[in-house]
Amino acid sequence: MLALDGARAVVTGGASGIGRASCRALAAAGAAVAVADLDAEGAEKVAAEVGGIALVVDVTDAESLRNAVDRAAAELGGLSILVNNAGGSTMQGLADWSPEEWDRIVRLNLTGVWNAMRAGIGHLLAGGGGSVVNTASISGTRPSAGETPYAAAKAGVVALTASAALEYAPDVRVNAVAPGMIRTNLTSVLLDYIPDMVAHYEDITPLHRIGTPEDVADVVVFLCSDAARFVTGQTLVVDGGMTLHGAGVDGLYDRFFRSGSPPAG
Ligand SMILES: NC(=O)c1ccc[n+]([C@@H]2O[C@H](COP(=O)([O-])OP(=O)(O)OC[C@H]3O[C@@H](n4cnc5c(N)ncnc54)[C@H](O)[C@@H]3O)[C@@H](O)[C@H]2O)c1
Repeated sequence: MLALDGARAVVTGGASGIGRASCRALAAAGAAVAVADLDAEGAEKVAAEVGGIALVVDVTDAESLRNAVDRAAAELGGLSILVNNAGGSTMQGLADWSPEEWDRIVRLNLTGVWNAMRAGIGHLLAGGGGSVVNTASISGTRPSAGETPYAAAKAGVVALTASAALEYAPDVRVNAVAPGMIRTNLTSVLLDYIPDMVAHYEDITPLHRIGTPEDVADVVVFLCSDAARFVTGQTLVVDGGMTLHGAGVDGLYDRFFRSGSPPAG
């Protein structure tokens, strides 16, 4: 296991899914954790489980987020890790989004990450440095139709991560994770109610399964740890290889060569 003894972390969106798994994995590695979420009850529950503190925050509200992060720094004795993970979206055609929904999704997924970095990085610097991990998405690295504000915001997180890494090196490393299809509250509607969705994703994923929140949380811990000491500005895709597809000769090898039989004709 990677050691984070003495680390002090704030995780936004920590009450559920990837954020909750990250809180658990960071705590298991030795970090003290502040669980920051809109969902007060969920945050309290995770905080109690990991022996941390709960913060009720809306990441789109810069002022209240700053106050909450200041409180976390005061209670934990400083901060060395920020996991800026709160986010989510629905799907619609480009012209069908209302301006209000567009703004809400960009504010949640992009501005929320910026708000959290602005609130937290000063604390990391005051303690001599640390690590930031932002949650992007394969929607930002390989966008699909129907998710324009989310894809644009997550691509923005990738760029924000690289730009911040340049600004804050060498004291603070700034990286991102880009999860693929991970089973959480965000995706369970899709996976449970659309026929054949699970089989479809298992089929198109080279590692042949849907991801778990823990699959991403372990990468978050790695990026925060000393094992990633020479890694900054990167977005690490955690999708079981799903978005490797798309080449012109995709599937040819499996159909004609892997079995040992030559191509027909
Ligand atoms: N699940 C996936 O397949 C997947 C894939 C790619 C990216 N992601 C990203 O991973 C992150 C976590 O998503 P998840 O799948 O764990 O979803 P989730 O719905 O299980 O968890 C999201 C958490 O964020 C909190 N939250 C929402 N809005 C907030 C706000 N304004 N302020 C504070 N907290 C807020 C929610 O209360 C919830 O606890 C998101 O950024 C999401 O876009 C998820």
